[in-house]
Formats: sequence, structure tokens, C-alpha cells
Amino acid sequence: MNKIVAKEYFSEKVVKFVVEAPLIAKARKAGHFVIVRVGEKGERIPLTIAAADVKAGTITLVVQAVGKSSSKLCALNPGDYITDVVGPLGRATHIEKFGTVVCCGGGAPLLPIVAAMKEAGNRVITVLAARTKELIILEKQMREYSDEVIIMTDDGSYGNKGLVTQGVESVINREKVDLCVTIGPAVMMKFVSLLTRKYDIPTVASLNTIMVDGTGMCGACRITVGGKTRFVCIDGPEFDAHQVDFDEMLMRLSSYKDLESK
Ligand code: FES
Repeated sequence: MNKIVAKEYFSEKVVKFVVEAPLIAKARKAGHFVIVRVGEKGERIPLTIAAADVKAGTITLVVQAVGKSSSKLCALNPGDYITDVVGPLGRATHIEKFGTVVCCGGGAPLLPIVAAMKEAGNRVITVLAARTKELIILEKQMREYSDEVIIMTDDGSYGNKGLVTQGVESVINREKVDLCVTIGPAVMMKFVSLLTRKYDIPTVASLNTIMVDGTGMCGACRITVGGKTRFVCIDGPEFDAHQVDFDEMLMRLSSYKDLESK
């Protein structure tokens, strides 16, 4: 049982929680995630650890209410308990000084990577993208760690009108990019990967598959990378984007859609 000590709304459907988890706070690195469960029979939800405060013994999780389980989690309040928080899981992000790093996509998992890349001495350009203005989150925090932030919205309600790939391509066209990191919906990562492959820019994708046990036993998070089977929970969540079979991943993700909406 992990107590929620603070809650903040980033938007109607995106909530930041600060949760007591001293051991996880101590051990976590950028890229690590936890699996949380609300209720004994609750679905297990993988969530990136957005930040941690070792002194306070807390971790920060940002949750977007997209289905039944995440909505249940978002409805919790300070003082409530999350049934369990398991982690840190996965492999930490490979951080070093690459040069110019473009971090693109959106959502909370992007922030710790942006911060860690900056701290390692990289020039960090963050391309934040969403359908509409309300869905752009953590902009202020991203700006803190980025040399530049480019905002893209599908409907043009904020920043530039267009897709994340257009934002990334505008950077590629004007300067040398040494690494691209992409985090977000699988379909978005697929197109970022296609784009950067065209320009031969090494690209890392942080994958967000369905997870159950988080220990490599159940196979729920199985994907194909470079023709080989990999488990996102233990081999990931980050992979060479150019090697990931995104079409297979999209197919597997969509096969749970009906259940998720019930
Ligand atoms: Fe079960 Fe990865 S979540 S194998």
C-alpha cells in the first residue's frame, strides 16, 4: 500500500500524483517505470517514474485517464492508498553526451529523459505534440531542461499546426541531430522512426505496451525488435526505434481496446 501525498491536475484528464515509495525513490533512474494496481483485482498499469525525491521518499507519477483502470487511479486523492506500486522496473535510459538530442512526443515519460539528457551536457530540443492545446502537458518543466521547445498541435490551437514529425523534420533541416528519443502513442513513434530512418539519425523509442507481471514471465509485453522477440518490461522500455516492428505492436495494442472501454 502506497500513500498518495499530493495530487495536481495538469488538465481535465491528466493528473500528477506524488506517492510515498522510499525504496523506489532511492533506486530509480531516468527511464525506469513502476507497475501500479488499484484494488486487489485491478488491472496492472505501467507508469514511468516522472521524478523522485529521495529525501522525502516519494516518486512522481503522471497518469492520463484513458480507460477504466487509469480513470480509477485518477479519481484517487491525497490520503488514499494505491494498492501496490512495484518497481523500479525496466532498464534505465542510456544517457551520455551525444551532442544534439531531439526528444519528441508527449506525456510524462518524456520529462525525466529530457532532464537527464540535459544534465549529461547535451543540447536538447524538445518537440511536444498533442491533438490540441489542452493535451500539451508539462511544458514549463520541459522548458526548464530544454534548450528549445517546439510545440505542435494537430488543430493548431497552440504552437505550430501539424504533426510531431513536421516539428522534428524542421530541426533536422536546420541542424545536425545526433540522437532522437521518441515517446508517445505507438503510431506516432512509428512515423517518427520512419522519418529519422530516412535521415539516418539514431533513434530510441520508449515503448508503452500492455504489461501484467513486469518480470518477463507472462509475455503480455512481447514485441519484435530486429526480428527477435523482446519483452518491454525487462529488455526495455527503450529500444532502437528503427528495429521495432511497430505494426505488430499496434495490432497487439488494439486487440485489447474493447475490454478497456468496458
Ligand atoms: Fe509480463 Fe513483460 S509484463 S512479460
